[in-house]
Amino acid sequence: MTLRANLSPSELQHYVDLLKGGEVVAFPTETVYGLGADAWNPGAIRKVFETKGRPADNPLIVHVASKEMAGEFAAEIPPEAERLMDAFWPGPLTLIFRKKPEVLDFITAGLDTVAVRMPDHPLALRLIEAAGPLVAPSANTSGRPSPTQARHVREDFGPGFPVIDGGACRIGLESTVLSVSEEPFEIFRPGYVSRQALEEVLGSPVREHQLSPGEEQPRSPGMKYSHYSPEAQVRWMEHDEKPKRNDTLYLLISSNMKASQSAYLIRYESDYARLARELYDRFRQADREGLKAVAIEDFRAVKTDSELTSALLNRIEKAIGK
Ligand code: TXA
Ligand code: MG
Repeated sequence: MTLRANLSPSELQHYVDLLKGGEVVAFPTETVYGLGADAWNPGAIRKVFETKGRPADNPLIVHVASKEMAGEFAAEIPPEAERLMDAFWPGPLTLIFRKKPEVLDFITAGLDTVAVRMPDHPLALRLIEAAGPLVAPSANTSGRPSPTQARHVREDFGPGFPVIDGGACRIGLESTVLSVSEEPFEIFRPGYVSRQALEEVLGSPVREHQLSPGEEQPRSPGMKYSHYSPEAQVRWMEHDEKPKRNDTLYLLISSNMKASQSAYLIRYESDYARLARELYDRFRQADREGLKAVAIEDFRAVKTDSELTSALLNRIEKAIGK
């Protein structure tokens, strides 16, 4: 993993000027690359939706560089939420607050809540400190896997697209999204910050939101869209399936079965953090190499002590299309 945190002040200023001029700029965070735009500029935010081809009813996360900046957007920060900010910010936890009236409807898709997070990445923080708060969805075309490297952003938006290259993202899956706008607090999207970790800080139970089939008004609009999928078909490996097809990328999670010479095979040896870091690149690799499928060893029934399991299963099942 490389982290290029050494952007010169004049390079940084170039991106700040673009953002202040209403343009969009992709930048690295610890989770995935974000497609940034000035959170107070409606024209810039419209460009974010256009660039991604994102449905207008899917709200955006505001990225801030301090708790004070979060206060520009949140109508009220409950003391428990403040404890979470102290424990996990900067970091991969997005908090959903009741919004201040002046927050643009473009950001919240007309909801009365707003999502805010402080990313744990030196380049992202420098950029936000200089340019002000930025909305930033993942910097991928809607429906494609989130980008975890600058080249993924260029794959989707073209070679000349403005992207600040910070190397490969340290976590590789999008942030945990937690609603703190009413009690009990509820996880809308699982991520690196696990339910147990949240409960430990709060000292009270946190709910996990389940989107029931046919539910009309999901609490987190993004949950109703299929996500994260490559062109290649993502599937679980069958029980006892041998990795032997030459049109399939196999991800072996814990077993060390033998593969035929021709098969593309990646072994994870129960390193779930590495799987999280690489998952979206593996999806994109399958497409780059023209493979038909990504077959993942089924670990749904495996008891792991990895706090990433629930986030990984969520992303994989979405890519499979369940
Ligand atoms: O790690 C991340 O969160 C990355 C990096 C770039 O920070 N960003 C990201 O953004 O994943 P995006 O737009 O791809 O996903 C935002 C998620 C969506 O599922 C959206 O529906 C949900 O957050 N969301 C945003 N505002 C919300 C709100 N007010 N209420 C409920 N859900 C909200
Ligand atoms: Mg996204």
